Amino acid sequence: MKTAIIYYSKHHGNTKKLLDQIATQSDITLIDASTTLDADLSGYDLIGFASGTYFSKLHQSVIEFAERNLPMEKKVFVISTYGGVKPRIHNLKKIISLRNGQFVGHYGCKGYDTYGLFKIIGGIAKGRPNAKDVARAVKFFNNLVERYGG
Ligand SMILES: Cc1cc2nc3c(=O)[nH]c(=O)nc-3n(C[C@H](O)[C@H](O)[C@H](O)COP(=O)(O)O)c2cc1C
Repeated sequence: MKTAIIYYSKHHGNTKKLLDQIATQSDITLIDASTTLDADLSGYDLIGFASGTYFSKLHQSVIEFAERNLPMEKKVFVISTYGGVKPRIHNLKKIISLRNGQFVGHYGCKGYDTYGLFKIIGGIAKGRPNAKDVARAVKFFNNLVERYGG
């Protein structure tokens, strides 16, 4: 089963930490939405969108990538990290549904956050994602492959 994950991970590389571990165990194409604006996703069975939470949503670059490049009838999942609250993903879900796709799951965990005033107190969610968070992300992905692969 071919998988591509389109991501944005700039604040502390928190989201990328999850993706790198998933990618060591599976053959996945990782696409950085901050440097790659378009890609042909037609040959992938499973497509992930991943980012930190930016103002309560996935990063805009990831959403714009989906808007421009998500093919019809794909299985789509989300991986996110957040300082306090999991992102709202209704805008991505709308794109998926307009393309007759299937939303198959969202894994989220905390990620070290030093944005704005949090910097003064040394940040929140220090040490996250931790080993448990990373292991859970791998498990989430493996479950998707088990359920929808092959
Ligand atoms: C500009 C900015 C806005 C953020 N907005 C939110 C937010 O609305 N809710 C939240 O829980 N965390 C927020 N965060 C914290 C990040 O989502 C969190 O640190 C995340 O793990 C960063 O992921 P990354 O290192 O992969 O980019 C924000 C961080 C930045 C820099």
